[in-house]
Amino acid sequence: MSKGFPENFLWGGAIAANQAEGAWNVDGRGLSVADVAQYKANVDVKDYNKHVAISSELVEAAMKDPDDKKYPKRRGVDFYHHYKEDLALFKEMGFKALRVSIAWSRIFPDGEETEPNEKGLQFYEDLFTEMRRLGMEPIVTLSHYEMPLALSVKYNGWADRRVVDLFVNYSRVCFERYKNLVKYWLTFNEIDSIVRHPFTTAGIIPDKCPEGEKDRTVYQALHHQFVASAKVTKDCHEIIPGSQVGCMLTKLTTYPHTCHPQDVEKTLKRNLDNYFYTDVQVFGEYPPLILNRFKRNGIEIVMEEEDLEILKANPVDYVSFSYYMSLTESADEGLEKAAGNTIMGIKNPYLPSTDWGWQIDPQGLKISLLELYDRYQKPLIIVENGMGAADKVEEDGSIHDDYRISYFREHIKAMKEAVEEGVDLFGYTSWGPIDIISAGTSQMSKRYGFIYVDQDDEGNGTLERKKKDSFFWYKKVIESNAEKLD
Ligand code: BG6
Repeated sequence: MSKGFPENFLWGGAIAANQAEGAWNVDGRGLSVADVAQYKANVDVKDYNKHVAISSELVEAAMKDPDDKKYPKRRGVDFYHHYKEDLALFKEMGFKALRVSIAWSRIFPDGEETEPNEKGLQFYEDLFTEMRRLGMEPIVTLSHYEMPLALSVKYNGWADRRVVDLFVNYSRVCFERYKNLVKYWLTFNEIDSIVRHPFTTAGIIPDKCPEGEKDRTVYQALHHQFVASAKVTKDCHEIIPGSQVGCMLTKLTTYPHTCHPQDVEKTLKRNLDNYFYTDVQVFGEYPPLILNRFKRNGIEIVMEEEDLEILKANPVDYVSFSYYMSLTESADEGLEKAAGNTIMGIKNPYLPSTDWGWQIDPQGLKISLLELYDRYQKPLIIVENGMGAADKVEEDGSIHDDYRISYFREHIKAMKEAVEEGVDLFGYTSWGPIDIISAGTSQMSKRYGFIYVDQDDEGNGTLERKKKDSFFWYKKVIESNAEKLD
């Protein structure tokens, strides 16, 4: 007899402040790095490097520009003013948990004030209180691609050690204020993404890096984030007894394109690279192969005396990850490429793709769960999974997103198999349960939601919320603890 998901499994959804809240210039909020991300209509959606490209000049121009058409993350879907209505819809689907993030620049607008912004603190207190009232467990990310822009301009973001203390202080303020409301915390969203988009993740502006030192700067900033994460984990445990602090990985599962040993070796290295980040946060140590690679490539990380001790003494309590797609790797450089989550890999001939070119691979989720659990033996939670698609609203207002239902059905089945094989998985928060702005392309038309939001890429629309077919389907899934998936 299969046992399925545990009774208290945390079913829900996940959003990020910068993609959902809007209200970028309301109640004392400062600018964040997300507010300078531009919507680029004429750029191929698979060309992430162009979408996330940034320079000091672009940042300056954005700071002077009050427009929110060009910078869609400024407007989000106005969750800031709609959150009660949106939470009621999540509740109707039966959500047991909701993952949200706190916009650092609502609490410390420039990142360095001596006193926090009370209006920002109050907003999240109201949000978490409402979630609790509705019986939803808040899972809160402290840094999800939205550091105060002022810190990026002044310090080149996380490249500067001083940002560690500023982040630790901000986190402490959050723990003190929300200690009776929030038990589950995540420090950095997809900490590994710093190598793919250093500005979005860590406020690093390439032209501010010393000549020829971009890679070193990125790894230095990453080290600062590791140390900050460990310090914050310690503080959280002290301030909120019984709290659980997790790390987060973009699980970029990669298969060898063939069984040629060269493909296998390249794949192994790619997967080890992917594990590096969680290895540090779970084992509290840098993997020796990574340290050796830094050495061979002349990447010297400046560490303070106590850093390694801090990392070792404060590992995370659980491992969270996002999973959207898988990739393959080959020694043959000439093979056709496929897009993925801000990354390219070799196309897998066995897998279909979304309209954005991300390869759909439910079994890859099962493989990821087995690998992660075997490696870390820590409780796991999937904090992002879903499919970006262009939805069509019918004349009667209905939205028939059977492709999304099928994506989720197969992924949840795969997840269930992994649980039945013994993986300790305690929750699943699908990405963007309500349509929000895309992180990678700043599009509105790349929709993940069970709930449709009436807004286009240019910001036109009423912001009305509509239930898609998947809304009713996910409700049944949660109600039956995934016993009913059809
Ligand atoms: C994850 C991010 O990498 O992918 C989210 O944590 C993001 O913020 C999600 O939205 C999907 O990516 P995109 O580019 O389709 O929004």
